[in-house]
Amino acid sequence: MILVTGGAGYIGSHACAALASAGHEILIVDNLSNSRRSVIDELAVLSGVRPLFVEGDIRDSSLMNNLFRKYTVKAVFHFAGLKAVGESVQKPLEYYDNNIRGTLDLLDAMRRASVKTLIFSSSATVYGDPERVPIPESAPRSATNPYGRSKLVIEDILADLYGAEDDWRIARLRYFNPVGAHPSGRIGEAPQGIPNNLMPFIAQVATGQREFLNVYGNDYPTPDGTGVRDYIHVMDLVEGHVAALEYLRNAGGLLTVNLGTGQGYSVLEMIKAFEQASGRSVPYRIAARRPGDIAQCWADSSLARELLDWKATRKLAEMCTDTWRWQKSAAMFNQ
Ligand code: NAD
Ligand code: UD1
Repeated sequence: MILVTGGAGYIGSHACAALASAGHEILIVDNLSNSRRSVIDELAVLSGVRPLFVEGDIRDSSLMNNLFRKYTVKAVFHFAGLKAVGESVQKPLEYYDNNIRGTLDLLDAMRRASVKTLIFSSSATVYGDPERVPIPESAPRSATNPYGRSKLVIEDILADLYGAEDDWRIARLRYFNPVGAHPSGRIGEAPQGIPNNLMPFIAQVATGQREFLNVYGNDYPTPDGTGVRDYIHVMDLVEGHVAALEYLRNAGGLLTVNLGTGQGYSVLEMIKAFEQASGRSVPYRIAARRPGDIAQCWADSSLARELLDWKATRKLAEMCTDTWRWQKSAAMFNQ
């Protein structure tokens, strides 16, 4: 059985779908602070088997110790955490507590139960403002906000743990920009309030929920002046996790890899691709740069290909079509 922390959330729920397809049994622990219980019902429909679900917090040590006693867990996929950069600046203690203490408590419970295989959600945010693109895993790391710092610290904690106890098998997966949704349209990203990220915002403009998109700056040193990012389909991303689990089983060790496509798209290219996929127009206005934003960021994805025999295969059109299908069903649900 695989324990999935944060398994009701955006990436965690897709990982559950991929794990179920690969024949794994799943136990989800999620405090539903940023997700809905109905996701579990959707996962049951998608995979034909209802995943075990426990509503709870990974910082609740007695709950976690009990779960490890009750179930035979082979590995942990650790998605639970807070992820909004702006909010992390306003609430640093909450972010450090949830992300860092949450991970420490999880590691403690795992060690007590002798469960020593962990797949951790890191982020390309650990590269700060990169000196060059594409970004290899060896690039210098830095943090400009508490969210990013929490990822840096957890990466270091995991390296220290492996340094001290080399029977752990740990993957630190650095995600670039996950977008898209399961092709069924049953699960996807459901941001609360105004979306911070580009793709969910574009999708809400396309449905008419929002009037226009603010394009944060068109004077960056990029081909059309707008920010460039490495958008990766969430299904590709979670398949990368299943490949990482396989790798750890065979090779063990401490694995650190980028999960990206290796290709960057600008904000204007994203708008155009979404308009084509949805058949709707996405009005936009050029606005000031967003503080803390970088000009461009995309992955050197060769290490994942070499070590995991994995690469992202879904193209931008599919990312937009799948987001659109999900957005339409989510909009209907919210009416
Ligand atoms: P999400 O908010 O949709 O999912 C996180 C889930 O964890 C939610 O369901 C939430 O209710 C749960 N949770 C939070 N704190 C918890 C706690 N203490 N105990 C139990 N459950 C808790 O976010 P996501 O986009 O699916 O991100 C998953 C992970 O991937 C996060 O660690 C995030 O930092 C990381 N990540 C995300 C992105 C991205 O763009 N979405 C990029 C890089 C890294
Ligand atoms: C954000 C986070 C980063 C996180 C990443 C993946 C910030 C500062 N950084 O980065 O830590 O790892 O998401 O989840 O929040 N854009 C607009 N208008 C919008 C929204 C975005 O023009 O309304 C632009 C941005 O300026 C950027 C691009 O779209 O150029 C992508 O933005 P976003 O989706 O927020 O991702 P990141 O900036 O890469």
